[in-house]
Amino acid sequence: RKGRTPEEVVKKYLQKVKSPPEEDCTICMEPLGGPSGYKGPGVGPVSRAESVGRLAQCGHQYHFQCLVAMYNNGNKDGSLQCPTCKTIYGVKTGNQPAGKMEYHVIPHSLPGHPDCKTIRIIYNIPPGIQGPEHPNPGKPFTARGFPRHCYLPDSEKGRKVLRLLLVAWDRRLIFSVGTSSTTGESDTVIWNEVHHKTEFGSNLTGHGFPDPGHLDNVLEELRAQGITEDDGLME
Ligand code: APR
Ligand code: ZN
Repeated sequence: RKGRTPEEVVKKYLQKVKSPPEEDCTICMEPLGGPSGYKGPGVGPVSRAESVGRLAQCGHQYHFQCLVAMYNNGNKDGSLQCPTCKTIYGVKTGNQPAGKMEYHVIPHSLPGHPDCKTIRIIYNIPPGIQGPEHPNPGKPFTARGFPRHCYLPDSEKGRKVLRLLLVAWDRRLIFSVGTSSTTGESDTVIWNEVHHKTEFGSNLTGHGFPDPGHLDNVLEELRAQGITEDDGLME
């Protein structure tokens, strides 16, 4: 996967479209029958034959140049996500900074899970300098509230969620660098799109137990990041 140009990555997931439909490209809002409205950096000329492509799995169509521009805007990990339906092509990764994820079982039950013990996950990420994959490369980022402790029931489903969270951690999808919606601070480590329970015996923040739908919600959020049960078995 390394060494592929953005154009080559995008092409890998596209099928040719002979005659574009009379619709607008939802990336640039210009007609698919005309040129891409995207005039950002890194967009070179393309021949007319390959100016529109259809994403192979979901079928959504875009200007080729618009997809290349979108790819260049992301972290260029060889994967592509359809902006319309969020179908993931390749393996999606994030921009979580370096750190540590640990877990162990503690001999207490969570509210709502009286019949099992509890898995405690401990995330630790130190502050650092933003890389090219972050919003402000070269600028420092802060890391508040670490180590962050999170809880799962030590049930069959809880252990499944843990396995998938380990995959998400390896793919750098648990945290990201940006602006905290809680504190308003920018250039800081924030939770990404996968919810964690950070309260053990109470639920003062709304991020505690009981919450009967929690594990299913997390499985759904992991799926939206391209992580499914199959991943947990392999790694
Ligand atoms: N525990 C778990 N999840 C949280 C918490 C919390 N205390 N606060 C917010 N979230 C969820 C939000 O619901 C949202 O989905 O994290 C997502 C991003 O919210 P931000 O406020 O941008 O994230 P962040 O700044 O990382 O979190 C704020 O979470 O774990 C604590 O110590 C951390 O106090 C900090 C708080
Ligand atoms: Zn377009």
